[in-house]
This record gives sequence, structure tokens and C-alpha cells, in this order.
Amino acid sequence: MARIDATLLDRADALLRELPVTRVVRLPHPGIRLHAKMESENRTGSSKDRAAIWILREAVRRGEITRDTTVVESSSGNFALSLASFLDALGVPFVPVLDPNVNAATERTLRRLCARVEKVTEPDGTGGYLLSRLARVARLRAELPDVYWPDQYANPDGARGHYELTAGELLADLGRIDYLFVGVGTGATINGLSRRLGVARPDAKVVAVDVDGSAIFGAPPARRLIPGIGSSIRPPLVDTARIGEVLVLSEVDEVAGCRALLREHGIYAGGSTGCVYAAITQYFAGRTGPEPVVAFLCADGGEPYADTVYADGWVAEHLTPVVTKGANA
Ligand SMILES: Cc1ncc(COP(=O)(O)O)c(C=O)c1O
Repeated sequence: MARIDATLLDRADALLRELPVTRVVRLPHPGIRLHAKMESENRTGSSKDRAAIWILREAVRRGEITRDTTVVESSSGNFALSLASFLDALGVPFVPVLDPNVNAATERTLRRLCARVEKVTEPDGTGGYLLSRLARVARLRAELPDVYWPDQYANPDGARGHYELTAGELLADLGRIDYLFVGVGTGATINGLSRRLGVARPDAKVVAVDVDGSAIFGAPPARRLIPGIGSSIRPPLVDTARIGEVLVLSEVDEVAGCRALLREHGIYAGGSTGCVYAAITQYFAGRTGPEPVVAFLCADGGEPYADTVYADGWVAEHLTPVVTKGANA
């Protein structure tokens, strides 16, 4: 076991204390009382900051990360951005392992913050790149002398970050929650939020939102293009989440949901948030009677998706064309 680096622990604790509290905003919506927690207001623009800082602080506290360590992680983008930002502040080198679906803006930022960036090019036979990225991580762990691998797909500390921070704030803001809709990738968010809700609001229903081509809820993995939710494996963190219902939408729904959220509420969000919004809209369509309190996370902002989800040309070329209004070409 490595020696605990007290200076590093102080810095990690300070980063954790300095995290912003993200706003919960009310969105007027037919039939429901809808609220969005704006995780896009985090330091690096996504909900992944909560998992990343908790994982890093705990690893430093256990002596698994010192200033001699290199952190290596596979990520489709947002988690890598969070790690890159916090590790830069901590003075610890980080090697992200990316794949071709990474947003161009995310890759540019990572190349500015990290001396070394690895990018796999070979699909892994499941239609995605996850297994190729994990194989590259394994190679780097064998190659470099003192490596810490956060393993975001299985690390309970990531879920703990959402349990303590994201869920803690949401509960402080909303006295009542009847439904919580959560997009699923590694399962850290739904694990942390659903377990905390199970304690504090046991009657609340947690609805998991996934996308076609994802293997998380038992379907065979297939090609997916929009990073964020979905996975070509079933992450172990999903097994211990408290999930009431699962909705699986298409990438076309993701695009339509993003554009509807922008038009109807002025929120310019990333693909996963659009998918969750589409799920909520479909789920409560035509609902009458008492209005339930419904919450979801705006997991990241739309700008990194400007050339994909929000670009008609990209959508027409890569997905079944959708009828759009007010979107950029
Ligand atoms: C934008 C966005 N939304 C949702 C998720 C899913 O969160 P989790 O990995 O905690 O399941 C991710 C994960 O990368 C993401 O980047």
C-alpha cells in the first residue's frame, strides 16, 4: 500500500468543498410538475464531476494515488474531462483512452490538459469501442510503473459521489419527488441517486433511460453514435441500483428530445438529456389528474454536440432523417 500523500489529500478535499451546487429549475410542462437539475453547471460542464472527484479523493485517502502516480481511464468524453481537470489541479498526470465517437471539442480540451492521449480506432465486435478501450487501458497499466485506474464502470466511489452530492442537493431542493428519470451509461448516477431516494423517498419511482444498441438491460449490443448513455456491457453498478422501470429509446428520439428541450424550455443540452426528456414526454403524454413531481438531470450542455445532434446534415447522414424545426444545418 502506497503512503498517503497529505498535501494531495488537502488539495483533493479542497476541490471537493469547492464544487458548485447546481440549480434545480422548474420547467412548465403539461400534466406534470417538471424539474431539471442543471449538472451542466459543474466545473467541467457535466454530472461526471461528482463521480470523478469522489473517486479521486477516496483513492488519495487510501494512498492509491500519490504525485508519482499516473491515472489511466477509458471514457467516451465527459468522465475524462472531469478527471483531466481535477488531476491537472492536483498535479497528477492523466492518460485518457478515447474512441472515435468522442466530441471534437472534448478531444481538443483533453489534448490541452493531458500530455498523452490514447485513441483506439478498432471497433470491438459489439458495434462499440468499449472493449477496445479497456484492452488499451490494460496495456497501459502493464506498461507504466505506478498506475491508478478509476474503473468507472465498477467503482462504488463514483456512485457514492452521486449519493452524497447530486442526490443530497436534489433532496434539499425538492420536498417531494414522485418520479426520477435517469440516463444510464456506467450506472454510477442511477446507482447513487436511486439508493439515496430509496432511503429518503421510498415511494419515488426511478425510471432508467437507455438507448437502442445498448446492452445494459439485456439487448444485444449494436452500433451507437451519440456518446453519453448506453453501454456495450452491463455495468455491475446497475445490478445494485433501485430501478422501478426501464425505457429504451432510439438515437433519433435522442435528437428529437434535444431539439424539443431547446425549443420548449430554452435548455441546450447533450444527447443523454434529450433522450431523458423524450422519455418523460412520451411517458406522461396525455396524462390528466393530479400532477406528479418529476425530476431529471441535465447531465451536460449542448455545445459539444453542435456538429452532431444539432446538425441536420450529420443527422441526415448518420441517423434516419427526422423532421426538425429551428435547428442548425
Ligand atoms: C452526458 C452523460 N449523461 C449520462 C451519462 C450516464 O451516467 P452514468 O455513467 O453515471 O450512468 C453519462 C456518462 O458518461 C454522460 O456523459
